[in-house]
Parts: sequence; C-alpha cells; structure tokens
Amino acid sequence: MRATKRTILLNPGPATTTDSVKLAQVVPDICPREREFGLLMANVCEELTRLAADPDRYTAVLFGGSGTAAVESILSSVVDDGTVVIINNGAYGRRMCEIADAYGLRYFEVKSPPDEMIDLEALETVIRNNDKISHLAIVHHETTTGLLNDIHAVGALCKLHGIDMIVDAMSSFAAVPIDMQQMNISYLASSSNKNLQGMPGVSFVIAEKRKLELTQHLRRRNYYLNLYDQYAYFVKHLQMRFTPPVQTLYALKQAIEELKQEGIPGRYGRYVESWETLIRGITRLGLSFIVPESLHSKIVTAIVEPDCSGYDFEAMHDYFYSHNIMIYPGKLDGLKTFRIANMGDIRSEDIEHFVGLLEAYLRSIGFNKGEGDDGRAEY
Ligand SMILES: Cc1ncc(COP(=O)(O)O)c(C=O)c1O
Repeated sequence: MRATKRTILLNPGPATTTDSVKLAQVVPDICPREREFGLLMANVCEELTRLAADPDRYTAVLFGGSGTAAVESILSSVVDDGTVVIINNGAYGRRMCEIADAYGLRYFEVKSPPDEMIDLEALETVIRNNDKISHLAIVHHETTTGLLNDIHAVGALCKLHGIDMIVDAMSSFAAVPIDMQQMNISYLASSSNKNLQGMPGVSFVIAEKRKLELTQHLRRRNYYLNLYDQYAYFVKHLQMRFTPPVQTLYALKQAIEELKQEGIPGRYGRYVESWETLIRGITRLGLSFIVPESLHSKIVTAIVEPDCSGYDFEAMHDYFYSHNIMIYPGKLDGLKTFRIANMGDIRSEDIEHFVGLLEAYLRSIGFNKGEGDDGRAEY
C-alpha cells in the first residue's frame, strides 16, 4: 500500500523520497534528551562520516537547520584572523562570500566561469601572492549549473600550501564518491534532503577531529552555529545542544540504511542513467544545456530556456505541477535557464515521462527544434 500520492521532484532538493523514509518519521514521541535518541544520533553521525572518511579520524556534527546552516557554521567557526579564499563559480560560491561578509571574515574571492574548469595556475598564483591564506572554500557540485569542481586537484594545491580546505558538498555528497583524506578536505558540509534522500531539517558538517579540536580556543563569532561547541556538547552529553528535528532524524537513519543497500556507486549509476535519458530527450527536442559533459555532475542540469514567444517558465511550471512533477527556475546571471535535477528516488522511466510531457508542452507553445545542435550551449 502506498503511503502517499507519488510526486516527482525534479527540483535540486529536497528530493523525492521513498515511502519507507516517509513512514520512518511515524514513531512514538520521544524526548530528544533521552539516551535512546542520543544513540540514534551517534549512529547517524558515524554512518554519515563513514560515507566519506574514517570515523576514527573524522566526525560528523549535526545541526537542526537547512544546508546553509552547515556551510555558515564552518565559515563562522573555523576561520580565525587568516584569509579564506572563496571560489565563486555559481550562486552557492557567491553565497559563501555573502556569509564571509556577514561575519566580517577576511576573504579573497576567486571568480571562475560557471561552465569551465577552475584555472589551477591562476589559483596557485593567488595563493602564492598572499601568505595570510589559512583556508580555501569551494563548492563541490555547483547546483546552479551542474558543474562538478575538481576538488581533488584543488585539495592537492591546498595540501602543498598548508591550507585547510572547506567543501560545500550539499548536492554531491552520497552520490559522487568523496574521500576526505585523499582529497585533503578538512571540513565538509551537507544536508539530509538531497542525495541522501532523507527529509529536510538536518544539516551536518564532517570535520577532521584534529583540526576541529584546534578551533576550541578561537574567538566566538557565532552561538547556535558554533561548530566546536556543538561537537563538544554532543560528545559530552550524547545530546544536541538545542532541540533537534526528531522525526527528520528517524527518517535520516532509514535513508542511510537505504543508501547502504544501494551503495554510493549504485546510487550514482542510477542518477547517471536518468541524466543520460534527460540529455537524449532534451537534445532531441532542440534544447541545450550549459556545462560540458566532461565537467558535469550528471545530477542537476541547467537547460537554456526555449527561444520562443509562447514560452513562460511559470506556465511551464504549472503545467508540470498539474502532472505531479516539480521543476525549478534557473539561478544564472546573464543567461535564462531552468533546472532539472535527477536526484532522489527517481529512475530513468520518470525522466522519460518528463521528456514526453515537455515535448507536448513545447509543441503547445509552437517551439521549433533548433537545427544541428549537439545539445550544448555557450554561456
Ligand atoms: C551547493 C549548495 N550549497 C548550499 C545550499 C543551500 O542549502 P539549503 O537551501 O538547504 O540551505 C544548496 C541548496 O540547494 C546547494 O545546492
């Protein structure tokens, strides 16, 4: 028996969840300061860490909040009076600059085109010319476009120069394989509701314990989001400092079980299959996308809006909504796009269904297929 009507979320998170994850939230009420619940959170922390690192050397720190809470927690807790280099090649890189501004951090913004690899030589020049750089912050998967940044190469550069790397892995974690030690990641931020396929409400940081311990004496810039305090309190009391999203954590535990059954390579393989179906479909219909395949996450795609007077994103959104499919507007400056994500509990049949409806929509507005297109657009 289905628990609820199935909707297909093609927005880049919160993603479509399984019924078993939805139902895992229906549990007896419990005080989150009870040991039983503390053990559940400890298990979730260990399992999350294990997805990207060795739990003996790294630890997950949970917060009640959306993904931005985890990113903000890292930036506002671990950077002291050094300078943080922030790579900006999309809306989420820019957001890290906004967070740095809000906390008065010293930072150096490195802008990079949203559809190109980061220029490592130029980045190294920035690092060499500034001896105060203590951290570098980068988005792994820029959800604005689908660009997958080469954090392995950037991590190697950070290692060479003794810089701690901070990675916003919001929309890559749990699908794109990550090895924090090998990639030289000191702090990683993600949340429960994207590739983990859990419910929204839990954000988390995975941190190298040794580095995290060193932040305990830093001047406090924050309170609720202080990373060391949240970590130390949990270690001491087996409780979150403040009220956790109890039912979301039960769902997250179930979502992690389901991820373990599928495996990260299995999950990513399923996503890639859906993505290939999407790209074949939109290309056939004459639409194009921004990021070249070799740099693409294959999880979120920014598609150029059809050049057609009958086109209107809101109308297209409402059309899909009436068919239980949710789509998302673009976030790029200078080029009109909409975004389709193939994350979550969806398969390539769902994407085929979407493409069929898109074809009917485009026909209804009189959109004519472009000619000789390989599906890629220039930004
Ligand atoms: C790369 C990245 N960072 C940060 C966020 C912010 O997450 P939230 O909206 O959950 O705060 C998102 C959300 O889509 C994201 O994709």
